[in-house]
Amino acid sequence: MDLLSYKPKNAFSSKHLLRLSNYTSDEILQVISLALKLKKQLKEGLMPPILAGKILAMIFAKSSTRTRVSFEAGIYQLGGTAQFLSSSDIQLGRGEPISDTAKVLSRMVDGIMIRTFAQSDVEDLAKFGSIPVINGLTDLLHPCQILADLMTYYEYKGSFSGKLAYIGDGNNVANSLLVGCAKLGLDISAACPKGYGPNSSVLAAAKAAAEVSGSNIVITDDPKEAADGADAVYTDVWASMGQEQDAKEKYRHFTKYQVNAELISLCKDDVIFLHCLPAHRGEEVTEDVIDGPHSVIFDEAENRLHAQKAVMALLMKDK
Ligand code: CP
Ligand code: NVA
Repeated sequence: MDLLSYKPKNAFSSKHLLRLSNYTSDEILQVISLALKLKKQLKEGLMPPILAGKILAMIFAKSSTRTRVSFEAGIYQLGGTAQFLSSSDIQLGRGEPISDTAKVLSRMVDGIMIRTFAQSDVEDLAKFGSIPVINGLTDLLHPCQILADLMTYYEYKGSFSGKLAYIGDGNNVANSLLVGCAKLGLDISAACPKGYGPNSSVLAAAKAAAEVSGSNIVITDDPKEAADGADAVYTDVWASMGQEQDAKEKYRHFTKYQVNAELISLCKDDVIFLHCLPAHRGEEVTEDVIDGPHSVIFDEAENRLHAQKAVMALLMKDK
């Protein structure tokens, strides 16, 4: 499969990026294909002004490094500009309804990226506004991250065959990863402690996608079973943003879910290690793994830039 010359089966028709389950596999491949092209062009010093004059409003109710910087740098490289709106500074944080915020922003800018707690807030922005809305992470999902992760997997493995093992908390990243892998036919085994598995309705969506693609989904509480023969191993923090208070109690359940050299030894010899970052070295992953030869975390982080640019270009170009 040569994704740089991917021929879309249908025109890209999604209006937003709210959740990957809304995207066809063809649309996901179009995003990754464009991201690869934009990456290649950038390395050659080319920055096509696909979004000249366009403005992206970026609402953040949670912290961010990669998401904020990649969207802001990305739209600049595409000829547009971004506005950073901390939800505590704008009226949304004082109780102005999402519906009014959506309608006002729709009169002034060309797209909205939002990072917040409730997935329903992201869906409501799209429902009440008239411009593209991009989910930059909620408690439930992190679709932008997974587009960059799948792009990274493709760059290292040359296809979407093989198996990815997710080890740890069944959180926003795990949820979107299940759907993303299932859409593209990549096998995924997720090992999470009992009671900390993926969201059941997202898992159902992933299973429905897997029926079509042929992807094999395994949910287990045994990290060794998940890691066995894996082509990629992925983990994320044990306490996500907003869960800091309960972290200590939660960690008790996660000690055997650390990605360490022993777990890596169960994977294929050329396994890649992925982590959305930020990471807690010594907790979900050991330093020798995250800073070791299998780790591709900085390529993965860089790919946030290229994937975000592709998403914005596809969603905002003709708006
Ligand atoms: N991976 C990720 O979304 O990073 P930030 O929280 O820094 O945006
Ligand atoms: N699961 C993490 C991802 C951070 C990018 C969180 O929600 O904090």
